[in-house]
Amino acid sequence: MRVILLGPPGAGKGTQAKYIVDHFGIPQISTGDMLRTAVKAGTDLGLRVQDIMTSGGLVSDKIIVELVRERIALPDCANGFLFDGFPRTIPQAKAMLAAEVDIEFIIEISVSDDEVVARLGGRRVHEGSGRIYHVIHNPPEIEGLDDQTGERLIQREDDQENTIRKRLKVYRQQTKPLVAFYQGITSEGSGKAPCFVSVEGTGALDFVQHQIREVLLR
Ligand code: AP5
Repeated sequence: MRVILLGPPGAGKGTQAKYIVDHFGIPQISTGDMLRTAVKAGTDLGLRVQDIMTSGGLVSDKIIVELVRERIALPDCANGFLFDGFPRTIPQAKAMLAAEVDIEFIIEISVSDDEVVARLGGRRVHEGSGRIYHVIHNPPEIEGLDDQTGERLIQREDDQENTIRKRLKVYRQQTKPLVAFYQGITSEGSGKAPCFVSVEGTGALDFVQHQIREVLLR
């Protein structure tokens, strides 16, 4: 199964990805997590992308496509994968088509800008695992600490309100056009056309999860 989760920052892509990975046994490929790991490790890649990420801009298509190509060539992707936060531009999507990476499901999670700002202000993350919490909607058992390791949770650098607003603007300009792009492919009626579905991302975590499960079990 090959799946793309599409949606603005804070839509809940990472949160729902954890459920899909556990339930369907495919690896999560989060370009955001991969880049943050590189930044934390201080690699060449990390040093090149750090400032762009902190400012809320997008990393170049060339870097991202190369990163993803290498990742999906690994053995754990043989039976499929979940793209979380990729593709994010039309050139990234076209690069996957050119590489004949067929996608079965594209799930767009929709939420309003105000909801995004409220969510990301309250997001807390366990850096080591990528586990995601929210101080109100999905709090850890002990405030500020990861449920499994007891390690301290962090707030992402790009979760400041002005950066969130910029990320939303970038999303509208560069990523939202992917909806029409993929809908165009699905309506062409090709045998390999992916199934595109938009789900409502506002509401309880279980409600969103239920909608996604219904799509993936079709
Ligand atoms: P990335 O890490 O991909 O960030 P993003 O797309 O902005 O998405 P987020 O991780 O912020 O949100 P999410 O949708 O995963 O929400 P979450 O589940 O955490 O990218 C970061 C940066 O890397 C980019 O800005 C860019 O610079 C670079 N980058 C990455 N990929 C790239 C690419 N392909 N091309 C170029 N550059 C790239 O949920 C958010 C919060 O809401 C959490 O606290 C959660 O607990 C809570 N929550 C979730 N669901 C609900 C719900 N139903 N109700 C209430 N609260 C909820």
